[in-house]
Amino acid sequence: MMEEMIGGIRAEIEEKIGTIDSSAALYEFRKTFLDNKDGKISQLMKGMKDLPKEEKPAFGKIINELKTWVIETFDAYDEKIKALELAKKNQDEAIDVTMPGVKSEVGALHPDTMIINELIDIFAGMGFEIYEGKEIENDYYNFTALNTPKDHPARDMQDTFYVSDEFLLRTQTSAGQIHVMENAKPPIKILSPGKVFRSDDDATHSPMFSQMEGLVVDKNISLCDLQGMLDIFSARIFGEGVKTRLRPSYFPFTEPSVEVDVSCFACGGKGCKLCKGTGWIEVLGAGVVNRHVLENCGIDPDEYSGFAFGMGVERIAMLKYGINNIKALFESDTRFADQFKN
Ligand code: PHE
Repeated sequence: MMEEMIGGIRAEIEEKIGTIDSSAALYEFRKTFLDNKDGKISQLMKGMKDLPKEEKPAFGKIINELKTWVIETFDAYDEKIKALELAKKNQDEAIDVTMPGVKSEVGALHPDTMIINELIDIFAGMGFEIYEGKEIENDYYNFTALNTPKDHPARDMQDTFYVSDEFLLRTQTSAGQIHVMENAKPPIKILSPGKVFRSDDDATHSPMFSQMEGLVVDKNISLCDLQGMLDIFSARIFGEGVKTRLRPSYFPFTEPSVEVDVSCFACGGKGCKLCKGTGWIEVLGAGVVNRHVLENCGIDPDEYSGFAFGMGVERIAMLKYGINNIKALFESDTRFADQFKN
């Protein structure tokens, strides 16, 4: 009777184990024999208490042998299945390292951004701090405080987008000069990048463009300080050996006012297409801060003086990268920006 049951267990395992193909199913099958409570072997053990005392040791030995065999059989088969499962997993997840990769797109900085970053680097190196103004200004900051009251003819130099009678889209980052001077005491040394807006539209003008403003106010600041700083700036942005030249100009908020040219970095000053044969290229407007502007901001013009400059970022980018239509900078064609990747 006992032998039969033991033989039955062995036969059942030997017959079925080969058909099992996952470690989860094997675990379930194993439980039907080895579970502490309901397993077939535990059930057999329970029968031991009904045996006569002298038969118990021999019975116990047989059951233990059976149990050892069952455990070993399952362990061995478990290892086999695990190896098969691992092999299958490796095959399913195999990576062919010889396959060509999928190229991911890498963006490029916009030429404007590159010029702005470069300018910030150059001027930060000279101790300038960054001030970012607002794109919507009121008439006072954009014009009146900059010595350009209502009906001043110089307002015509900048075709303005008015939002209301009082508010407008700033036409120049110079508006930021006033905010800075109203809130800080000299010495002041700021650089102010930002978008500006003018009703102007052709191959070299866009209704929205970017400017970079600079302002220095301290004791004894003169036009010489401006030119010294411009020489450093020009050589850094356009290349070693590039010189600057000041020409008289007019802005209501500077006196004297100048237009700044750099010697042509394409031909070295001999005259070429870029400089239209003149050897010089106009890059920015600047001047000594007008006394009235300092006064408007509560700064004593007898104690302090300053210089300011403002340049068009797109203009610098077009000159430096040889772009001949400003529209290319605003078409959002990524292939355009890609050309200037470095
Ligand atoms: N704001 C002037 C412009 O937009 C440039 C400028 C700035 C000139 C600062 C002088 C001083 O044309």
